[in-house]
Amino acid sequence: MDIFRTKSVEQSIRDTEDPEHQLRKRLTATDLTVFGIGVIVGTGIFVLTGQVAKELAGPAVAISFIVAGVVCGLAALCYAEFASTIPVAGSAYTFSFATLGEFPAWIIGWDLLLELALAAAVVSVGWSGYVASMLSSIGLGLPPSIAGENPVVNVPAMLIVLALTVILVAGIKLSSRVNLILVITKIAVVLLVIVAGLFFVKAANYTPFIPEAVATQRVEGLKAPLIQLLFGITPVAFGVIGIFSAAAIVFFAFIGFDIVATAAEETIEPQRDVPRGILGSLAICTVLYVAVSLVVVGMQRYSELSTAAPLSDAFTSVGHAWLGTIISVGAVAGLTTVVLVLLLGQTRVLFAMCRDGLLPRSLAIVNPRFGTPARLTVIIGVVTMALAGFVSFGELAELVNIGTLFAFVVVSAGVIVLRKTRPDLPRAFRAPLVPVLPILSVLACLYLMLNLPAQTWLRFLIWMVLGVVLYFTYGYWHSRTAMPWQKTRG
Ligand code: ALA
Repeated sequence: MDIFRTKSVEQSIRDTEDPEHQLRKRLTATDLTVFGIGVIVGTGIFVLTGQVAKELAGPAVAISFIVAGVVCGLAALCYAEFASTIPVAGSAYTFSFATLGEFPAWIIGWDLLLELALAAAVVSVGWSGYVASMLSSIGLGLPPSIAGENPVVNVPAMLIVLALTVILVAGIKLSSRVNLILVITKIAVVLLVIVAGLFFVKAANYTPFIPEAVATQRVEGLKAPLIQLLFGITPVAFGVIGIFSAAAIVFFAFIGFDIVATAAEETIEPQRDVPRGILGSLAICTVLYVAVSLVVVGMQRYSELSTAAPLSDAFTSVGHAWLGTIISVGAVAGLTTVVLVLLLGQTRVLFAMCRDGLLPRSLAIVNPRFGTPARLTVIIGVVTMALAGFVSFGELAELVNIGTLFAFVVVSAGVIVLRKTRPDLPRAFRAPLVPVLPILSVLACLYLMLNLPAQTWLRFLIWMVLGVVLYFTYGYWHSRTAMPWQKTRG
């Protein structure tokens, strides 16, 4: 049984030319950067900033954003090299197929499905929360059974997924246009926070910049971070260690730059533009995050920040509630684009897996009228709607983090492998300092993974075992890599 059979880079690229499974090439570097920012700036900055500043890092949360940004930067350089070498839909999945083989590729694809579906559901539930609070501020409160903290069924979350699915089916250019308008609104609001907030910054709020470390109550059992269970480390909040623990959480705020690579196949000049899109969106977001977090902890003492809506509440705390409302509107726009791009990335990964035969190929037919994989998009929309409507997210966000970090580890290692196995391939973008940089990337991601709770690891493993079973009962037997004689057939 050859589960490590690889699919050559040339074959991957040839597959994209199969007319029945061909995506339209329309995107430019600017479109990709907008897509990147669209999916990156979201719950992380709008919600998590307050929580981690208050509980883990104090004003030094800005340093946590830098740390998480650097970890992502290392991985982003690896993604950029891959995307410029293998410009095919599927991102980390396709990259692993070309380097590590079919089974590892399946594992990564399966992992990305977890990351993207859950993340889309989690963010649409967050979107619903903001909408509910905006509506109630104008006297249109929704019943608690359909929205709010613990609804029976989260109707607004389901409706946003439905609306975005329709947009995605209708065509990628339309969706990037909708995305552009929403991203502009979101960035305007983020800039508003930075510029308007500067007027309310009090220097006293910055001292101490790194609050003194305090021991926190030990979290027992499966809820404890794995690193604590493995090494018996006493958990502390604040201090230098607090900055790093906070980095593992605000990592969520950076998730998304990797998804730019999933749109490679629809890019007019992918070799040049995908690296630009990935690195550009990540750099812009890092700068925005550091600025926003510095302003917010300057406006309000870190211990008083709100954990639900820290950006808008900081303005309310200085007597400008109307600015707070504008910021909430921006958050709704911002979270919409996050869900949109997550759904898009999700369809593209699944598309690549179906096209390779690891899942039923008939699912990956591109609709001739819209030029999009309509069938898959609808299936994903329905599954995400169900998750968003009925699953309460909480810890599921940590599952998103672990899934993403795992993909980063594999992609970073893959760069080293592909340099060894295929030194001949043209690489329009080369990550610097290989193999040192990818090794650093692997270690940094593993460190952040260790900071996640043991139960997250357990859930992650269960999902992976399901994937392994599916591979050996279906994927292995239907893989097109195993059936070269079928490659010429439709
Ligand atoms: N980075 C995205 C967010 O913060 C997932 O919502």
